[in-house]
Amino acid sequence: MAEYIIKGGAALSGEVQIHGAKNAVLPVLAAALLVPKSTILNCPKLSDVSVACSILEHLGCTVVRQDDCINVSAAGLTGSEIPEYLMREMRSSVVFLGAIIARCGKARVSMPGGCELGPRPIDLHIKALRKLGAKIEEDHGYLNCSVPDRLRGASISLEFPSVGATENIMLAACTAQGETVIHNPAREPEIVDLAAFLQKAGAKIYIGENGTIYIQGVEKLDSVQHSVISDRIEAATYLCCAAITGGQVLLKKVIPSHMTALLPLMEEAGCRLKVSGDSIYLVAPKRLKAPKFVRTMPYPGFPTDAQSPLMALSCVAEGSSIFVETIFESRYKHVAELARMGAKIKVVGEVAVVEGVPALHGAEVVCTDLRGGACLCCAALAAGGQSRIKDIYHIERGYQDFEHTLKVLGADIVVA
Ligand code: UD1
Repeated sequence: MAEYIIKGGAALSGEVQIHGAKNAVLPVLAAALLVPKSTILNCPKLSDVSVACSILEHLGCTVVRQDDCINVSAAGLTGSEIPEYLMREMRSSVVFLGAIIARCGKARVSMPGGCELGPRPIDLHIKALRKLGAKIEEDHGYLNCSVPDRLRGASISLEFPSVGATENIMLAACTAQGETVIHNPAREPEIVDLAAFLQKAGAKIYIGENGTIYIQGVEKLDSVQHSVISDRIEAATYLCCAAITGGQVLLKKVIPSHMTALLPLMEEAGCRLKVSGDSIYLVAPKRLKAPKFVRTMPYPGFPTDAQSPLMALSCVAEGSSIFVETIFESRYKHVAELARMGAKIKVVGEVAVVEGVPALHGAEVVCTDLRGGACLCCAALAAGGQSRIKDIYHIERGYQDFEHTLKVLGADIVVA
């Protein structure tokens, strides 16, 4: 199985064009089920995106991909079932559920199992879809869904602002009868992007100032062209990679307003930032200062997906950092791998205390999940000597041309 070999020590320097956001394109591909023809631009080339396209094809859609554009024709939809092998490949396939129910009046999907970040239940999705009139039963590891009548708008209050549940409700409610109101929804930029796609297709969605989402069901949606927003987590990762090596990087095609929770922490770490239009320029100091306190929260709080790349940086910073991971139970799996590189981190429950060390050393480490994998590469870029990073398929789920991009920035990285 492929691995990265990274020799640390080179200060990264150069420019990176940020790709379209993985977490935005996946729900938009699910939304493509609701409209006759979708032209989706700025799609990143990632294994998760390929899985989403396979799901669409499995359901009977025609999918044509050219460069960063994906054309989906959902006119001849034939299926309403997602088999286990596709659900297993990408846990977030559950976001197709709301769209399939809305389009077909029924759905059968394999239950997404646990994953590397902990159990990741879908109770909020199920509860909300039931409220919209879907009948959902568990049957030997599958969810059997049917809509006895038509889906009907409802007032739904989410106990937690789950990103996936909010997306599923939006997808199911667009063509439901009457009004749906989602209280306490997720407010991530990817939610706003999904709303933009649906609005262009003729959906009546309005997001209130406090985030509440109002959806007035329409009979049908029309064909649409949409360009997905850029990936704030990919951007955050390259900022961390440049910072940890004492380097500099110019990010292009980025949306700085989506990164307001991270940028002050990079400044606290001693980096100089210049933000202008759709670019961010970062110059790192010789030795980073430890960001004091990082608590992951739903947007606009600090994103859980950027927790591990930032932790890599704290490992070699002067001073100590406290991380509190409030979103996922098992999101410190990278900690044991960082320890192999000489990091000093103590985890108690949702808290991790990182005591910065003067330097890390290269080691053989294993990617535990997508962002944890990126974090290990980040640490390896600054470590003395060589690191071997195994199970890099996790990284390919979420970073297009990762190795090439780091190489262009001056990193000594090869795929073996
Ligand atoms: C999405 C992102 C993921 C990101 C996460 C949080 C995609 C494809 N993935 O994942 O990268 O880390 O948001 O920003 O967009 N929960 C429940 N019951 C539910 C649903 C969620 O208890 O029915 C819990 C989860 O276990 C987790 C928390 O809520 O602890 C957040 O989950 P959620 O916001 O739903 O994340 P995802 O949509 O899975």
